[in-house]
Amino acid sequence: MEPLLTPHVRQKNAFSLDSYLQHDGYEAMRKALTHTPDQIIDMVKASGLRGRGGAGFPTGMKWQFVDRKSTKPRYIVCNADESEPGTFKDHVLMERNPHLLIEGCAIGCYAIGAKVAYIYIRGEFYHVQQHLEAAIDEARAKGYLGKNIFGSGFDCEVYVHRGAGAYEAGEETALLESLEGKRAQPRNKPPFPALFGLYGCPTAVNNVETLTNVPLIVAKGPEWFAALGPEKNGGPKLYCVSGHVKNPGVFEASMNITLRELIEGEKYAGGVPNGRQLKAVIPGGSSVPILLPDQLDTQASFDAVAKAGSLLGSAAIIVLDDSVCMVWLAKNLLHFYKHESCGKCTPCREGTDWMYKLLTKIEGGHGTMRDIDLLGSVANNVNGKTLCAFGDAAATPALTTLKHFRHEFEAHVREGRCTLQAEWRARQPVGAH
Ligand SMILES: Cc1cc2nc3c(=O)[nH]c(=O)nc-3n(C[C@H](O)[C@H](O)[C@H](O)COP(=O)(O)O)c2cc1C
Repeated sequence: MEPLLTPHVRQKNAFSLDSYLQHDGYEAMRKALTHTPDQIIDMVKASGLRGRGGAGFPTGMKWQFVDRKSTKPRYIVCNADESEPGTFKDHVLMERNPHLLIEGCAIGCYAIGAKVAYIYIRGEFYHVQQHLEAAIDEARAKGYLGKNIFGSGFDCEVYVHRGAGAYEAGEETALLESLEGKRAQPRNKPPFPALFGLYGCPTAVNNVETLTNVPLIVAKGPEWFAALGPEKNGGPKLYCVSGHVKNPGVFEASMNITLRELIEGEKYAGGVPNGRQLKAVIPGGSSVPILLPDQLDTQASFDAVAKAGSLLGSAAIIVLDDSVCMVWLAKNLLHFYKHESCGKCTPCREGTDWMYKLLTKIEGGHGTMRDIDLLGSVANNVNGKTLCAFGDAAATPALTTLKHFRHEFEAHVREGRCTLQAEWRARQPVGAH
Protein backbone atom coordinates (compact mmCIF):
# COMPACT_ATOMS: atom_id res chain seq x y z
CA MET A 1 0.00 0.00 0.00
CA GLU A 2 1.26 3.48 -0.87
CA PRO A 3 1.69 5.59 2.28
CA LEU A 4 -1.37 7.76 2.83
CA LEU A 5 -0.72 9.26 6.26
CA THR A 6 3.01 9.64 5.74
CA PRO A 7 3.31 10.14 1.96
CA HIS A 8 5.90 12.89 1.71
CA VAL A 9 7.34 12.84 5.18
CA ARG A 10 10.92 12.29 4.05
CA GLN A 11 10.86 15.29 1.74
CA LYS A 12 12.43 18.52 2.87
CA ASN A 13 9.78 20.93 4.20
CA ALA A 14 7.16 18.16 4.18
CA PHE A 15 5.58 19.87 7.16
CA SER A 16 5.02 23.21 5.42
CA LEU A 17 1.65 24.46 4.27
CA ASP A 18 2.97 24.89 0.72
CA SER A 19 3.92 21.23 0.56
CA TYR A 20 0.55 20.20 2.02
CA LEU A 21 -1.35 22.34 -0.49
CA GLN A 22 0.62 20.81 -3.38
CA HIS A 23 -0.88 17.47 -2.33
CA ASP A 24 -4.54 18.62 -2.18
CA GLY A 25 -4.24 19.82 1.40
CA TYR A 26 -7.42 21.28 2.97
CA GLU A 27 -9.52 20.10 -0.01
CA ALA A 28 -11.18 17.52 2.26
CA MET A 29 -12.28 20.30 4.57
CA ARG A 30 -13.62 22.31 1.65
CA LYS A 31 -15.60 19.23 0.63
CA ALA A 32 -16.75 18.49 4.21
CA LEU A 33 -18.24 21.97 4.49
CA THR A 34 -20.54 21.24 1.54
CA HIS A 35 -22.06 18.39 3.57
CA THR A 36 -24.09 18.52 6.78
CA PRO A 37 -22.39 17.52 10.06
CA ASP A 38 -24.62 14.43 10.19
CA GLN A 39 -23.44 13.39 6.74
CA ILE A 40 -19.80 13.64 7.89
CA ILE A 41 -20.55 11.48 10.93
CA ASP A 42 -22.31 8.97 8.66
CA MET A 43 -19.26 8.91 6.38
CA VAL A 44 -16.90 8.23 9.28
CA LYS A 45 -19.25 5.53 10.57
CA ALA A 46 -19.47 3.90 7.14
CA SER A 47 -15.67 3.94 6.81
CA GLY A 48 -15.39 1.77 9.92
CA LEU A 49 -12.55 3.95 11.25
CA ARG A 50 -11.50 2.66 14.67
CA GLY A 51 -9.61 4.71 17.24
CA ARG A 52 -5.84 4.39 16.95
CA GLY A 53 -5.17 5.39 20.60
CA GLY A 54 -5.47 1.89 22.01
CA ALA A 55 -9.03 0.69 22.40
CA GLY A 56 -10.01 0.56 18.71
CA PHE A 57 -13.43 2.07 19.42
CA PRO A 58 -15.38 3.17 16.28
CA THR A 59 -14.80 6.90 15.79
CA GLY A 60 -18.08 7.66 14.01
CA MET A 61 -20.03 6.13 16.88
CA LYS A 62 -18.03 8.17 19.39
CA TRP A 63 -18.87 11.35 17.50
CA GLN A 64 -22.53 10.37 17.32
CA PHE A 65 -22.64 9.97 21.10
CA VAL A 66 -21.55 13.60 21.59
CA ASP A 67 -24.56 15.42 22.97
CA ARG A 68 -25.45 17.80 20.15
CA LYS A 69 -28.68 18.98 21.78
CA SER A 70 -26.71 20.47 24.66
CA THR A 71 -26.61 24.26 24.83
CA LYS A 72 -23.03 24.05 26.14
CA PRO A 73 -20.01 24.39 23.85
CA ARG A 74 -18.62 21.16 22.41
CA TYR A 75 -14.97 20.22 21.99
CA ILE A 76 -12.68 17.97 20.04
CA VAL A 77 -9.72 17.01 22.21
CA CYS A 78 -6.86 15.38 20.36
CA ASN A 79 -4.89 12.95 22.49
CA ALA A 80 -1.23 13.54 21.59
CA ASP A 81 0.15 12.30 24.89
CA GLU A 82 1.82 9.29 23.25
CA SER A 83 3.41 7.86 26.39
CA GLU A 84 2.75 4.13 25.98
CA PRO A 85 6.17 2.45 25.97
CA GLY A 86 7.12 1.43 22.44
CA THR A 87 4.81 3.98 20.81
CA PHE A 88 6.33 6.71 18.63
CA LYS A 89 4.01 7.19 15.65
CA ASP A 90 1.95 10.25 16.62
CA HIS A 91 4.92 12.55 16.96
CA VAL A 92 6.03 11.60 13.41
CA LEU A 93 2.64 12.69 12.11
CA MET A 94 2.70 15.93 14.10
CA GLU A 95 6.25 16.78 13.15
CA ARG A 96 6.20 15.81 9.48
CA ASN A 97 2.52 16.12 8.47
CA PRO A 98 0.96 18.56 10.96
CA HIS A 99 -1.59 20.02 8.54
CA LEU A 100 -3.22 16.61 8.09
CA LEU A 101 -3.91 16.58 11.82
CA ILE A 102 -5.11 20.20 11.83
CA GLU A 103 -7.48 19.42 8.96
CA GLY A 104 -8.71 16.31 10.80
CA CYS A 105 -9.34 18.36 13.95
CA ALA A 106 -11.28 20.99 12.01
CA ILE A 107 -13.45 18.41 10.21
CA GLY A 108 -14.06 16.71 13.57
CA CYS A 109 -15.17 20.03 15.05
CA TYR A 110 -17.54 20.61 12.15
CA ALA A 111 -19.03 17.11 12.53
CA ILE A 112 -19.81 17.40 16.25
CA GLY A 113 -20.71 21.11 16.22
CA ALA A 114 -17.58 22.34 18.02
CA LYS A 115 -15.67 25.53 17.36
CA VAL A 116 -12.53 24.65 19.25
CA ALA A 117 -10.12 21.70 19.21
CA TYR A 118 -7.37 21.25 21.78
CA ILE A 119 -4.35 19.15 20.99
CA TYR A 120 -3.05 17.85 24.32
CA ILE A 121 0.57 17.04 23.65
CA ARG A 122 3.03 15.07 25.77
CA GLY A 123 5.15 17.25 28.05
CA GLU A 124 8.44 16.09 26.54
CA PHE A 125 7.41 17.01 22.97
CA TYR A 126 8.57 20.62 23.19
CA HIS A 127 9.92 20.76 19.64
CA VAL A 128 6.83 19.02 18.23
CA GLN A 129 4.68 21.64 19.91
CA GLN A 130 6.73 24.34 18.15
CA HIS A 131 6.14 22.64 14.80
CA LEU A 132 2.43 22.27 15.40
CA GLU A 133 1.95 25.83 16.55
CA ALA A 134 3.83 27.15 13.52
CA ALA A 135 1.57 25.04 11.28
CA ILE A 136 -1.56 26.30 13.06
CA ASP A 137 -0.39 29.90 12.58
CA GLU A 138 0.19 29.22 8.87
CA ALA A 139 -3.26 27.64 8.49
CA ARG A 140 -4.95 30.51 10.32
CA ALA A 141 -3.11 33.12 8.23
CA LYS A 142 -4.45 31.48 5.04
CA GLY A 143 -8.02 31.19 6.37
CA TYR A 144 -8.07 27.40 6.87
CA LEU A 145 -8.71 28.09 10.56
CA GLY A 146 -10.42 31.06 12.18
CA LYS A 147 -13.70 32.70 11.22
CA ASN A 148 -15.97 31.78 8.32
CA ILE A 149 -13.75 29.09 6.79
CA PHE A 150 -14.21 28.86 2.98
CA GLY A 151 -17.09 31.37 3.35
CA SER A 152 -19.19 28.62 4.94
CA GLY A 153 -19.98 30.40 8.21
CA PHE A 154 -18.03 27.71 10.12
CA ASP A 155 -15.53 29.04 12.69
CA CYS A 156 -12.78 26.86 14.13
CA GLU A 157 -9.69 27.33 16.28
CA VAL A 158 -7.08 24.72 17.19
CA TYR A 159 -4.90 25.19 20.28
CA VAL A 160 -1.97 23.12 21.51
CA HIS A 161 -1.62 22.43 25.22
CA ARG A 162 1.57 20.79 26.47
CA GLY A 163 1.18 18.43 29.42
CA ALA A 164 3.71 17.91 32.17
CA GLY A 165 4.90 14.46 31.10
CA ALA A 166 2.78 11.82 32.83
CA TYR A 167 1.73 8.53 31.25
CA GLU A 168 -1.62 8.68 33.04
CA ALA A 169 -2.39 11.98 31.30
CA GLY A 170 -2.99 9.89 28.15
CA GLU A 171 -6.05 8.27 29.74
CA GLU A 172 -8.83 10.36 28.30
CA THR A 173 -10.52 11.57 31.49
CA ALA A 174 -7.20 12.20 33.26
CA LEU A 175 -6.20 14.16 30.16
CA LEU A 176 -9.32 16.31 30.49
CA GLU A 177 -8.55 16.95 34.16
CA SER A 178 -5.01 17.99 33.23
CA LEU A 179 -6.28 20.23 30.42
CA GLU A 180 -8.50 21.93 33.02
CA GLY A 181 -5.39 22.63 35.09
CA LYS A 182 -5.85 19.85 37.61
CA ARG A 183 -3.80 16.79 38.48
CA ALA A 184 -3.99 14.11 35.77
CA GLN A 185 -6.16 11.57 37.54
CA PRO A 186 -9.02 9.60 35.95
CA ARG A 187 -12.67 10.44 36.50
CA ASN A 188 -15.43 8.09 37.51
CA LYS A 189 -17.26 6.85 34.40
CA PRO A 190 -20.08 7.24 33.50
CA PRO A 191 -20.63 10.00 32.59
CA PHE A 192 -18.34 9.60 29.58
CA PRO A 193 -16.69 12.60 27.87
CA ALA A 194 -19.31 12.58 25.08
CA LEU A 195 -21.77 13.92 27.68
CA PHE A 196 -19.51 15.40 30.35
CA GLY A 197 -16.05 16.13 29.00
CA LEU A 198 -13.87 19.21 29.00
CA TYR A 199 -15.22 21.80 31.49
CA GLY A 200 -18.26 19.53 31.86
CA CYS A 201 -19.16 20.02 28.17
CA PRO A 202 -19.77 17.37 25.48
CA THR A 203 -16.37 16.31 24.14
CA ALA A 204 -14.88 13.78 21.72
CA VAL A 205 -11.38 12.64 22.67
CA ASN A 206 -9.53 11.22 19.66
CA ASN A 207 -5.99 10.04 19.09
CA VAL A 208 -3.70 11.91 16.65
CA GLU A 209 -3.56 9.09 14.10
CA THR A 210 -7.34 8.64 14.30
CA LEU A 211 -7.94 12.27 13.35
CA THR A 212 -5.39 12.19 10.52
CA ASN A 213 -7.50 9.48 8.86
CA VAL A 214 -10.57 11.72 8.71
CA PRO A 215 -9.49 13.96 5.76
CA LEU A 216 -8.72 10.77 3.77
CA ILE A 217 -12.22 9.42 4.41
CA VAL A 218 -13.87 12.66 3.37
CA ALA A 219 -11.65 13.12 0.31
CA LYS A 220 -11.79 9.58 -1.06
CA GLY A 221 -14.98 8.15 0.41
CA PRO A 222 -15.81 5.68 3.18
CA GLU A 223 -16.01 2.65 0.85
CA TRP A 224 -12.48 3.26 -0.46
CA PHE A 225 -11.23 3.59 3.12
CA ALA A 226 -12.96 0.44 4.38
CA ALA A 227 -11.64 -1.59 1.42
CA LEU A 228 -8.02 -0.79 2.32
CA GLY A 229 -7.99 -3.39 5.09
CA PRO A 230 -9.82 -6.45 6.37
CA GLU A 231 -13.48 -6.17 7.36
CA LYS A 232 -13.98 -3.71 10.25
CA ASN A 233 -10.25 -2.92 10.18
CA GLY A 234 -10.11 -0.49 7.27
CA GLY A 235 -7.77 2.33 6.41
CA PRO A 236 -4.02 2.78 6.65
CA LYS A 237 -2.27 1.97 9.93
CA LEU A 238 0.99 3.13 11.45
CA TYR A 239 3.06 0.48 13.22
CA CYS A 240 5.98 1.26 15.54
CA VAL A 241 8.42 -1.66 15.48
CA SER A 242 11.17 -1.60 18.10
CA GLY A 243 13.40 -3.86 20.15
CA HIS A 244 15.51 -6.63 18.65
CA VAL A 245 15.07 -5.86 14.96
CA LYS A 246 17.56 -4.72 12.35
CA ASN A 247 15.59 -1.72 11.23
CA PRO A 248 13.32 -0.28 13.93
CA GLY A 249 10.92 2.49 12.93
CA VAL A 250 7.43 3.64 12.02
CA PHE A 251 5.89 1.73 9.09
CA GLU A 252 2.64 2.46 7.32
CA ALA A 253 0.66 -0.50 5.99
CA SER A 254 -2.87 -1.79 5.65
CA MET A 255 -4.10 -4.07 8.42
CA ASN A 256 -3.94 -6.98 5.96
CA ILE A 257 -0.25 -7.22 6.83
CA THR A 258 0.94 -9.90 9.25
CA LEU A 259 3.18 -9.46 12.28
CA ARG A 260 5.75 -11.59 10.47
CA GLU A 261 5.93 -9.23 7.49
CA LEU A 262 6.29 -6.22 9.79
CA ILE A 263 9.00 -7.83 11.90
CA GLU A 264 10.91 -9.81 9.28
CA GLY A 265 10.11 -8.11 5.95
CA GLU A 266 13.03 -6.38 4.22
CA LYS A 267 10.82 -3.32 3.57
CA TYR A 268 9.93 -3.25 7.24
CA ALA A 269 11.92 -4.07 10.37
CA GLY A 270 14.20 -6.63 8.67
CA GLY A 271 14.15 -9.39 11.27
CA VAL A 272 16.04 -10.23 14.45
CA PRO A 273 19.74 -9.32 14.18
CA ASN A 274 22.95 -11.10 15.20
CA GLY A 275 21.66 -14.57 14.35
CA ARG A 276 19.53 -14.72 17.47
CA GLN A 277 16.09 -16.33 17.76
CA LEU A 278 12.81 -14.54 18.34
CA LYS A 279 11.50 -15.20 21.83
CA ALA A 280 8.34 -13.10 22.15
CA VAL A 281 6.45 -10.14 20.72
CA ILE A 282 4.45 -7.51 22.56
CA PRO A 283 2.16 -6.38 19.73
CA GLY A 284 0.43 -3.25 21.06
CA GLY A 285 2.56 -1.33 23.52
CA SER A 286 3.83 -2.52 26.89
CA SER A 287 0.31 -2.91 28.32
CA VAL A 288 -0.78 -5.87 26.23
CA PRO A 289 -0.23 -9.63 26.51
CA ILE A 290 2.75 -11.30 24.86
CA LEU A 291 2.47 -13.33 21.65
CA LEU A 292 4.85 -16.20 20.93
CA PRO A 293 6.92 -16.91 17.77
CA ASP A 294 4.38 -19.46 16.48
CA GLN A 295 1.79 -16.64 16.35
CA LEU A 296 3.79 -14.47 13.98
CA ASP A 297 1.49 -15.16 11.05
CA THR A 298 -1.32 -13.35 12.87
CA GLN A 299 -2.71 -10.46 10.86
CA ALA A 300 -1.77 -7.14 12.49
CA SER A 301 -5.41 -6.01 12.73
CA PHE A 302 -7.49 -5.15 15.81
CA ASP A 303 -9.65 -8.26 15.49
CA ALA A 304 -6.97 -10.79 14.53
CA VAL A 305 -4.58 -9.78 17.33
CA ALA A 306 -7.48 -9.93 19.84
CA LYS A 307 -8.38 -13.39 18.55
CA ALA A 308 -4.77 -14.47 19.08
CA GLY A 309 -5.06 -13.48 22.76
CA SER A 310 -3.53 -10.02 22.83
CA LEU A 311 -4.46 -6.49 21.70
CA LEU A 312 -3.31 -4.29 18.83
CA GLY A 313 -3.40 -1.34 21.27
CA SER A 314 -1.27 1.49 19.93
CA ALA A 315 0.33 -0.87 17.34
CA ALA A 316 3.68 -0.62 19.10
CA ILE A 317 5.32 -3.94 18.27
CA ILE A 318 8.13 -4.68 20.73
CA VAL A 319 10.34 -7.55 19.58
CA LEU A 320 12.29 -9.62 22.09
CA ASP A 321 15.05 -12.05 21.18
CA ASP A 322 16.18 -15.08 23.17
CA SER A 323 18.66 -13.07 25.23
CA VAL A 324 15.83 -11.44 27.18
CA CYS A 325 15.04 -12.67 30.66
CA MET A 326 11.27 -12.48 31.06
CA VAL A 327 11.50 -11.81 34.79
CA TRP A 328 13.77 -8.86 34.02
CA LEU A 329 11.30 -7.70 31.36
CA ALA A 330 8.39 -7.73 33.82
CA LYS A 331 10.51 -5.97 36.46
CA ASN A 332 11.58 -3.32 33.98
CA LEU A 333 7.97 -2.64 32.95
CA LEU A 334 6.75 -2.59 36.55
CA HIS A 335 9.41 -0.03 37.34
CA PHE A 336 7.69 2.17 34.77
CA TYR A 337 4.14 1.47 35.98
CA LYS A 338 4.93 1.99 39.67
CA HIS A 339 6.53 5.31 38.83
CA GLU A 340 3.62 6.41 36.62
CA SER A 341 0.69 5.27 38.79
CA CYS A 342 -1.27 8.43 39.59
CA GLY A 343 -2.10 7.02 43.03
CA LYS A 344 -5.85 7.63 42.95
CA CYS A 345 -6.92 3.97 43.21
CA THR A 346 -5.50 1.94 46.09
CA PRO A 347 -5.05 -1.37 44.18
CA CYS A 348 -2.92 0.38 41.55
CA ARG A 349 -1.00 2.68 43.89
CA GLU A 350 -0.07 -0.14 46.27
CA GLY A 351 -0.12 -3.05 43.82
CA THR A 352 2.34 -1.62 41.29
CA ASP A 353 4.94 -1.00 43.98
CA TRP A 354 4.32 -4.42 45.51
CA MET A 355 4.68 -6.19 42.14
CA TYR A 356 7.88 -4.27 41.44
CA LYS A 357 9.34 -5.28 44.82
CA LEU A 358 8.44 -8.94 44.29
CA LEU A 359 9.92 -8.91 40.80
CA THR A 360 13.11 -7.26 42.03
CA LYS A 361 13.41 -9.93 44.70
CA ILE A 362 12.80 -12.81 42.28
CA GLU A 363 15.03 -11.41 39.54
CA GLY A 364 17.82 -10.84 42.05
CA GLY A 365 17.68 -14.54 42.98
CA HIS A 366 16.25 -13.94 46.47
CA GLY A 367 12.65 -15.00 45.80
CA THR A 368 10.71 -18.04 46.91
CA MET A 369 8.13 -20.16 45.09
CA ARG A 370 5.54 -18.48 47.30
CA ASP A 371 6.65 -15.07 45.96
CA ILE A 372 5.80 -16.25 42.45
CA ASP A 373 2.26 -17.15 43.50
CA LEU A 374 1.98 -13.92 45.45
CA LEU A 375 2.98 -11.94 42.35
CA GLY A 376 0.14 -13.55 40.40
CA SER A 377 -2.28 -12.86 43.23
CA VAL A 378 -1.31 -9.18 43.54
CA ALA A 379 -1.56 -8.74 39.75
CA ASN A 380 -5.05 -10.28 39.78
CA ASN A 381 -6.05 -7.90 42.54
CA VAL A 382 -4.99 -4.90 40.44
CA ASN A 383 -6.38 -6.12 37.11
CA GLY A 384 -9.90 -4.76 36.56
CA LYS A 385 -10.05 -3.16 40.02
CA THR A 386 -9.27 0.46 39.13
CA LEU A 387 -11.09 3.50 37.72
CA CYS A 388 -9.14 3.41 34.47
CA ALA A 389 -7.34 0.81 32.38
CA PHE A 390 -3.95 1.72 33.90
CA GLY A 391 -4.50 -1.03 36.48
CA ASP A 392 -5.03 -3.65 33.76
CA ALA A 393 -2.01 -2.31 31.88
CA ALA A 394 0.20 -2.56 34.96
CA ALA A 395 -0.95 -6.07 35.86
CA THR A 396 -0.45 -7.43 32.34
CA PRO A 397 3.40 -7.69 32.29
CA ALA A 398 3.31 -9.86 35.43
CA LEU A 399 0.34 -11.96 34.31
CA THR A 400 1.53 -12.55 30.75
CA THR A 401 5.12 -13.43 31.68
CA LEU A 402 3.86 -15.78 34.41
CA LYS A 403 1.48 -17.41 31.95
CA HIS A 404 4.07 -18.12 29.26
CA PHE A 405 7.40 -18.13 31.12
CA ARG A 406 6.70 -19.36 34.66
CA HIS A 407 9.62 -21.77 34.28
CA GLU A 408 11.97 -18.76 34.13
CA PHE A 409 10.61 -17.44 37.44
CA GLU A 410 11.05 -20.85 39.01
CA ALA A 411 14.60 -21.14 37.64
CA HIS A 412 15.51 -17.85 39.35
CA VAL A 413 14.24 -19.23 42.65
CA ARG A 414 15.98 -22.59 42.23
CA GLU A 415 19.31 -21.20 40.98
CA GLY A 416 19.31 -18.10 43.19
CA ARG A 417 20.28 -15.99 40.14
CA CYS A 418 19.34 -15.15 36.58
CA THR A 419 21.26 -17.47 34.28
CA LEU A 420 20.05 -15.76 31.12
CA GLN A 421 21.09 -12.28 32.17
CA ALA A 422 24.45 -13.62 33.31
CA GLU A 423 25.02 -15.08 29.83
CA TRP A 424 23.79 -11.89 28.20
CA ARG A 425 26.03 -9.70 30.33
CA ALA A 426 29.00 -11.92 29.54
CA ARG A 427 28.43 -11.34 25.81
CA GLN A 428 28.37 -7.53 26.09
CA PRO A 429 31.53 -5.51 25.38
CA VAL A 430 33.45 -4.49 28.49
CA GLY A 431 31.92 -1.37 30.03
CA ALA A 432 28.52 -1.82 28.32
CA HIS A 433 26.71 -2.53 31.57
C1 LIG B 1 -3.03 4.77 31.15
C2 LIG B 1 -3.53 5.09 29.78
C3 LIG B 1 -2.74 5.84 28.91
C4 LIG B 1 -3.22 6.16 27.64
N1 LIG B 1 -2.41 6.89 26.82
C5 LIG B 1 -2.87 7.24 25.60
C6 LIG B 1 -2.07 8.05 24.74
O1 LIG B 1 -0.93 8.42 25.06
N2 LIG B 1 -2.58 8.38 23.52
C7 LIG B 1 -3.85 7.99 23.13
O2 LIG B 1 -4.29 8.36 22.04
N3 LIG B 1 -4.62 7.23 23.93
C8 LIG B 1 -4.17 6.86 25.15
N4 LIG B 1 -4.98 6.11 25.97
C9 LIG B 1 -6.34 5.77 25.49
C10 LIG B 1 -7.30 6.94 25.76
O3 LIG B 1 -7.85 6.82 27.06
C11 LIG B 1 -8.46 6.97 24.75
O4 LIG B 1 -9.01 5.70 24.65
C12 LIG B 1 -8.04 7.44 23.36
O5 LIG B 1 -7.42 8.70 23.41
C13 LIG B 1 -9.27 7.56 22.49
O6 LIG B 1 -8.91 7.93 21.19
P1 LIG B 1 -9.25 7.01 19.96
O7 LIG B 1 -10.72 6.64 20.07
O8 LIG B 1 -8.99 7.84 18.78
O9 LIG B 1 -8.38 5.81 20.05
C14 LIG B 1 -4.52 5.74 27.24
C15 LIG B 1 -5.30 4.98 28.11
C16 LIG B 1 -4.80 4.65 29.36
C17 LIG B 1 -5.66 3.83 30.27
